[in-house]
Amino acid sequence: QLADPNVTEADLLADPAAKIARVKGTPHPSIPAPRDIFPGRVNSGGLDLQDAAVLHPLAKTLAATPLPAAAKVPDVAAAITAAHAAAETWDRVPVKARAACLDRLADLMEMHRTELMAICVKEAKKTIPDALAEVREAVDFCRYYAINARAQFAPLPLPGPTGERNELRLGGRGVFAAVAPWNFPLAIFIGQVAAALVAGNSVLAKPAPQTPLIAKRAVELAYEAGIPKDVLHYLPGGPEVGRAIVADARVTGVAFTGSTATAKAIARSLLDDDNRPIVPLIAETGGINAMIVDSTALSEQVVADVVTSAFRSAGQRCSALRLLLLQDEIAERTLHMLIGAMETLVIGDPADVRTDVGPVIDEAAYQRLEDYRQSAKSRWLHALDAPAGGGLFIPPTVIGLDSIEELTQEWFGPVLHVATWKAGELEDTVRRVNAKGYGLTMGLHSRIASAADRVIAEAKVGNLYVNRSMIGAVVGSQPFGGEGLSGTGPKAGGPHYLLRFASERTVSIDT
Ligand code: SER
Repeated sequence: QLADPNVTEADLLADPAAKIARVKGTPHPSIPAPRDIFPGRVNSGGLDLQDAAVLHPLAKTLAATPLPAAAKVPDVAAAITAAHAAAETWDRVPVKARAACLDRLADLMEMHRTELMAICVKEAKKTIPDALAEVREAVDFCRYYAINARAQFAPLPLPGPTGERNELRLGGRGVFAAVAPWNFPLAIFIGQVAAALVAGNSVLAKPAPQTPLIAKRAVELAYEAGIPKDVLHYLPGGPEVGRAIVADARVTGVAFTGSTATAKAIARSLLDDDNRPIVPLIAETGGINAMIVDSTALSEQVVADVVTSAFRSAGQRCSALRLLLLQDEIAERTLHMLIGAMETLVIGDPADVRTDVGPVIDEAAYQRLEDYRQSAKSRWLHALDAPAGGGLFIPPTVIGLDSIEELTQEWFGPVLHVATWKAGELEDTVRRVNAKGYGLTMGLHSRIASAADRVIAEAKVGNLYVNRSMIGAVVGSQPFGGEGLSGTGPKAGGPHYLLRFASERTVSIDT
């Protein structure tokens, strides 16, 4: 699919900065209208700039208004006691009633969309299109999990030769901890919470320390939607709060999104106490995500998808492209076009609707990325300038590598690495990426169907994207989550996600 059929490759080569097509909000023709996938779905995965432009003045006004009061570090033990006491009663609430709470929460988030967007822009430094997509994804998680819970949580009769009445029943596991990241402070936060609640668990909801306020507002809306206060507990704070939550033996499940190191620390803590039940951990972490481009790929599309995958959301998505692998014969031409496309990016205030790349989340992230960028200066293939006036802006930067193996860690920002490969090395290239041990997203651009088949067969990732960008998985259509160092595998927004939050009990009655 060409982003703009009127722009030819020759145009781009002649004047890449001016001509690169950046058509946002145009859904892929094969993606059905958002509401066709499941009733009430609002996020198509595309951007809706028209909508954002209408919202812009309002979002800007709201972004200028004071944020809700800072959250206090809570009494974790008291919250766990209350959640523990409430879990059984909540599990006995009919699943239809629990699902109805999620539907009401979805409605409330839609009603409060602009306010939620404004908090996202201010607190998480999201651009307006990203903030809009964030609220929509949160809405979709609630509606999708409500639909799945109604369909999946009824007792399932199991026929068989035993002459007994056999039945599989799903219920809550008890108290679930939901530990969310700052980069999707509403969507992932509410996705974890909604899944755990609708499966019949009480929930300890810990937002990232950088983004407590959007989570606080979401929890208030959940109470308004009918979730009892003793069933859902809002526990903001830093790592000390997280540690206190997961160390408590009454916690019977953990959903975590964040760094691989923290996921491992949680896993260790869950195993610390020999007397504690074995607790499931649903972990979604980072990745060293690669896109492989062969010589048959459509350059304009490659460039548009690279820019989106590597630099949108200031590269602060776990799905984002970190390592671009170009077949050597097209490397120079593709880089030339990529540099032109980068020059059109607007870096600046996230509350300005024209902004493509906002600041990174905090000073620590800025320092880490900037130190790395400067240390790699001799290998820059291109770097934009930070806007005048300071701020936590990491200008999109492309760093050349001699080999795939040179990149050994995830750099969580708008820093793209590029290496090349030779004809005949396609499978080997995939295997070398696999060998890093991460397995979140991978991209392929090729117009050879058998190349796609070979990469699909070889890639060990949770989400593989062919001839498109690598970010923005759509709830219900593109279940999201990685394997290996990237996570324990469950797919948010997929049909099996709720089962990870449930206990399964078989009842066999000799009739
Ligand atoms: N789900 C997000 C994406 O697909 C990342 O967490 O970009």
